[in-house]
Amino acid sequence: MRQFTGWLFLTWFALAAASPALSAPRQKQSPEVNLVAFGDWGFGTADQQAVADAIAAYAKDRPRFDAALLLGDNFRVTLEDTDDPNFQTVFEKMYDRKRLNFPFYACFGNHDYEKDRFKVELDYARLHPQSRWKVPSRWYRIDMPTTKEPLVTVLMLDSNKPMMTGADWDAQIAWMKQELDKPRARWTVCCAHHTLFSNGAHGDNGVLQSQWGEIFKDHKVDFYLCGHDHTLQHLEIEGWPTTFIVSGGGGARRRSLLRDNRGPYSRSDTGFAALRFTESAATVSLIDSHDKLLHVFERSTDGTIRILATSPSDKATEHPLKVIAGFDEDPKHPATQPAAAPQGKGRTTEGTEATESTKKKF
Ligand SMILES: [Fe+2]
Repeated sequence: MRQFTGWLFLTWFALAAASPALSAPRQKQSPEVNLVAFGDWGFGTADQQAVADAIAAYAKDRPRFDAALLLGDNFRVTLEDTDDPNFQTVFEKMYDRKRLNFPFYACFGNHDYEKDRFKVELDYARLHPQSRWKVPSRWYRIDMPTTKEPLVTVLMLDSNKPMMTGADWDAQIAWMKQELDKPRARWTVCCAHHTLFSNGAHGDNGVLQSQWGEIFKDHKVDFYLCGHDHTLQHLEIEGWPTTFIVSGGGGARRRSLLRDNRGPYSRSDTGFAALRFTESAATVSLIDSHDKLLHVFERSTDGTIRILATSPSDKATEHPLKVIAGFDEDPKHPATQPAAAPQGKGRTTEGTEATESTKKKF
């Protein structure tokens, strides 16, 4: 009898394994892509370590991450060559291999051009394909997941116009248009180092607004992610369908804000952005180095913004209008007018007035 029971059990087990009808119904998982994004990180300091630890702690409780997007000003330490130990201390060992076991796609910031560090960064990626460090060229495209039907298209761009020849700059713009004309995933994210809009020290960049911004508008780019300003910002600008994220808090010294009349959110702090994409919505969280959620919002497929949780934005500290406008010391002719406080929900209704006045500023 015992043997018979055993046989019955084995038969049932074999049938259940072979026949979908006898198996528990398998729920179809809806596709999603999870990313972290941060710039201005490679100092090898306690502040960088704190952000790296916070990202690892955040990833520990999440099912999966697809990639990190590194938003430039990568290495602020010496990089003599690809054997430089700083690759190990400031990158490989800094970001927990176990919990953060996914590709880190990088773009270049202004400091990566110092002493030609960007060339060493390119060489290291080429010579170490097993490393998480990925930067195949100065601008490139990633589709995630790498299946027939990706959910997110990412363009990693080089915003260092002053460091590039005119021919290179034009070639990148032609490439960008070409890629955005091709079939794309549900979500499109463009990343580079410099800001188009920022409440921080570097302010708005009229050159990028006019030369890249129009392309973003024409092709309905959903997100532009950058660093450069050592802050965490979420900006919705009237007339611009793209959502702007500044995530320059990877470990650099905090920089104060120079304006606070745009939003919905800006904070002078270290930390990172976490982005979760599904078919219907993108959820973005700005998180500090203690893993505290500072600001969380959702962007739906039609571009509607819904703030899910937030905390107070920081105030501007000094002469915001004068500095941002790039004008001489002339307080009688400010380029911008103070506007309403940032809205708690939805798109803000001001913020583009600095554009014209900063066209020449890079
Ligand atoms: Fe920078």
